[in-house]
Amino acid sequence: MNQYSDFAFIYDELMNDVDYDKWVLYIEEIIKKKEAKVKNILELACGTGNLTIPLTIKNYDIAGIDISYDMLNVAREKAYEKGIELVLLQQDIAELDFDVENLDCVLCACDGFNYLTYDDEIENCFSKVYELLKKDGLFIFDISSYYKLSTILGNNTFAENRENISYMWQNYFDDTENLIDMELAFFVRDENGKFDRFTETHQQRAYTELEIKNFLKNAGFSDIDVFADFTFDTPKENSERLFFVCKK
Ligand SMILES: C[S@@+](CC[C@H](N)C(=O)[O-])C[C@H]1O[C@@H](n2cnc3c(N)ncnc32)[C@H](O)[C@@H]1O
Repeated sequence: MNQYSDFAFIYDELMNDVDYDKWVLYIEEIIKKKEAKVKNILELACGTGNLTIPLTIKNYDIAGIDISYDMLNVAREKAYEKGIELVLLQQDIAELDFDVENLDCVLCACDGFNYLTYDDEIENCFSKVYELLKKDGLFIFDISSYYKLSTILGNNTFAENRENISYMWQNYFDDTENLIDMELAFFVRDENGKFDRFTETHQQRAYTELEIKNFLKNAGFSDIDVFADFTFDTPKENSERLFFVCKK
């Protein structure tokens, strides 16, 4: 599947409405609430480093993993411009291969786990995370909720026409497999003012809160909190982003 290749170079511009500073503060509030001591973090599906870079600036020792060569290159370039060195690895988190153990925290932000569409992929990843964490280590991640993928995004078309980038985003939700196929067509203005078109197809799985909790329990986690939409409230039927916080 063609994912996060050319899209990598316009990802940050299209995500400019996402408040990553607020995201970082929320992660730090979670760490405080759980009374955890966190210095080192392994970030899964770190993308262009939108959390990796500010967390590094805040003095966390962080390593990022992503499957996309291009997303990691954008992260590297951004870090270089800020005079920061990042530890970045290109890997499929379904086959996570990391050998530094006793980690304080494993993080995965903004839908990374929705991209694991098979049970055994998410099972392998959660088990490996459990193995890598120190006792009392924190596993913090969010997913797009079943409601968001099935009802808000599912079987809907979105389009935006900006000055230099336009896109069409068509989604098809399969409620037998709980999979959403997203067909994205981008039009990006080049230096001569002409628009180049490219397409990507993304697939995500819509997980229920219960499914994720069961995968976590099977991996060994017992202390599991679920919060909705950057709050500390329990999710409602129409919550769009579910944050899972687990202590080993
Ligand atoms: C929506 S982006 C989020 C990126 C970043 N965490 C952020 O908050 O901006 C999802 C990321 O998941 C990565 N990804 C998808 N499937 C993956 C896999 N199997 N292994 C590792 N990374 C994956 C993509 O390459 C992409 O960078």
